[in-house]
Amino acid sequence: MTSKELRQKYLDFFASQGHAIIPSASLIPENDSSTLFISSGMQPLVPYLLGEKHPAGVRLANSQKSFRTEDIEEVGDNRHNTFFEMLGNWSLGDYFKKEQLAWVFEFLTKVLGLDPARLYVTVFRGNDTIGIPADKEAVEIWQKIYAQAGLEAKDVNFPEKHGLQGGRIFYYDEKKNWWSRSGVPAKMPEGEPGGPDSEIFYDLGADLKRHEKSIFKDQPCHVNCDCGRFIEIGNSVFMEYIRTDSGFRKLSQQNVDFGGGLERITMVVQGKDNIFETDLFINAIRKIEQLSGKNYRGSMSAFEIITDHLKAASFIMGDDQGIAPSNTGQGYIVRRLVRRAIRHGRQLGIEQESWTKEIAKIVAHDYQETYPELKRNIDRVIDQLAEEETKFNKTLDTGLRVFEKIVDRQLTTDNRISGLEAFNLYQTYGFPIEMTVELAKEKNLTVDLAEYEAELKKHQNLSRTASAGMFKGGLADASEATVKYHTAAHLLLAALRKTLGDHVIQKGSNITSERLRFDFAHHDKLTEQEKKQTEELVNQAIKQDLPVTCEEMDLNEAKSRGAHGVFEAKYGERVKVYAIGREKLHFSQEICGGPHVKNTGILGHFKIQKEESSSAGVRRIKAILE
Ligand code: ALA
Repeated sequence: MTSKELRQKYLDFFASQGHAIIPSASLIPENDSSTLFISSGMQPLVPYLLGEKHPAGVRLANSQKSFRTEDIEEVGDNRHNTFFEMLGNWSLGDYFKKEQLAWVFEFLTKVLGLDPARLYVTVFRGNDTIGIPADKEAVEIWQKIYAQAGLEAKDVNFPEKHGLQGGRIFYYDEKKNWWSRSGVPAKMPEGEPGGPDSEIFYDLGADLKRHEKSIFKDQPCHVNCDCGRFIEIGNSVFMEYIRTDSGFRKLSQQNVDFGGGLERITMVVQGKDNIFETDLFINAIRKIEQLSGKNYRGSMSAFEIITDHLKAASFIMGDDQGIAPSNTGQGYIVRRLVRRAIRHGRQLGIEQESWTKEIAKIVAHDYQETYPELKRNIDRVIDQLAEEETKFNKTLDTGLRVFEKIVDRQLTTDNRISGLEAFNLYQTYGFPIEMTVELAKEKNLTVDLAEYEAELKKHQNLSRTASAGMFKGGLADASEATVKYHTAAHLLLAALRKTLGDHVIQKGSNITSERLRFDFAHHDKLTEQEKKQTEELVNQAIKQDLPVTCEEMDLNEAKSRGAHGVFEAKYGERVKVYAIGREKLHFSQEICGGPHVKNTGILGHFKIQKEESSSAGVRRIKAILE
């Protein structure tokens, strides 16, 4: 079965259970600052999990492009990659555990033909301190499901201490069996939804030998032990809780959020023990063999890093909201990916001046039907890759020589590269700090990261270091403050169009409970006069206490009414239009998922704090409500 067939079978199966199939949203988050990139299928759906009505109904399924920054360093084992597709299905206050677990099992065993005896599952152990009990209900459901497949399914606790114990259903704590965008319950900010989950693992067999750091040595093996024997292929989150200022309470609806990695499911269905050998990666791997004259089997880790990183970078750069390599935020992640790939390519002996585009072309070709935007934007991706490669190649050789000198000196002293040296490698030779750390590790050296950070701050070259947690706080939650900023963003777009003209369209936004950031198409810096007029228009709309109303309609109808919305594609055919103002005299009309305030009067006073360039032809405004 090809990955393409598999993806389609998943969507068909859930469509046959009454699910509307919705398109993948962009990889670049919209009004969600919890992660730098969309890293799970539920993120674009948060408003609906919190109770907003979705125009496509209460049962949804899709395959969502996702990227996990935190997995960059993990690439090179048999199962981690940064860009992946998450097969997802959602119940928005409709079905719950019984249907969900039975359907996933049916899909895996009947539709895909996986052997039920190789499937193991986990459930939440419960935690008294947050008042959430062990998920006995899920255990009972699983036992019935397994019984129908002719298997006895013993539930056992503390597998992390005592191993498999002949069990098939395992209890784990919230580190493993609780899911929210921000992780464990203690890390969840107010207004964040989450819940216990139940993961499904596939047993690749105890003889899997690729990874040595395994339980086959001193610890008992269990499904979450990371030895590579068991691979997680799906996770059903029972999202029925919300974090409040005093602990957890139940949401107004019981949701299901299922996510399954297409790459991993493809791997087990295609009988491989490595995702890179599936048809989702193999063409790129073969191309690297050609370019380097080396064999994949001989340098697996380098091949996997190059393939994964260039594929991920291509998808991020080739998104309709594409991000180019740069020194800050999301762009810094793209830069890291591309430069790390170039460095490993150099190690493999690839000699061409400009070769990374060859991988981008293959990825665009492989995905042309599923994600046509990449092919559509491929020229831009090729240009940006070539530019990045030229920049980095100029300094890479000298930088590596400087690095070798540092190594020679350090090996005889304290085995530690100073922060100043690491900073110099970054500043002068363009080595992302993570690359210096990786190079150092290969020589058994460490890097003084604290000192590096201090140097960095001193030079103030980076306002942020693009670690996964950099945007902590200010989640796109349902708190009143965040919702107010969301409505203010609509007013701002309308005001900008009135001030500057109809060419102004939204290019992106990022909203927290403390401020809004808004990107829009416009070539010139705003004059003081234009800024003032924009502010005034917004503030007048606030003073008039205009009603905010929502109506569902076809996309075509929305367009003919003049509603704006650059991100409409992700919402499918039926859309919601939020209008601000009185009938026929709307100040603003936008296609949008919500939520919004009911009347503009409560927004307070709107103030533009900063207006600057974001990228070519795009301006950025930061504004607050006082
Ligand atoms: N949102 C869940 C996950 O990412 C399904 O694992």
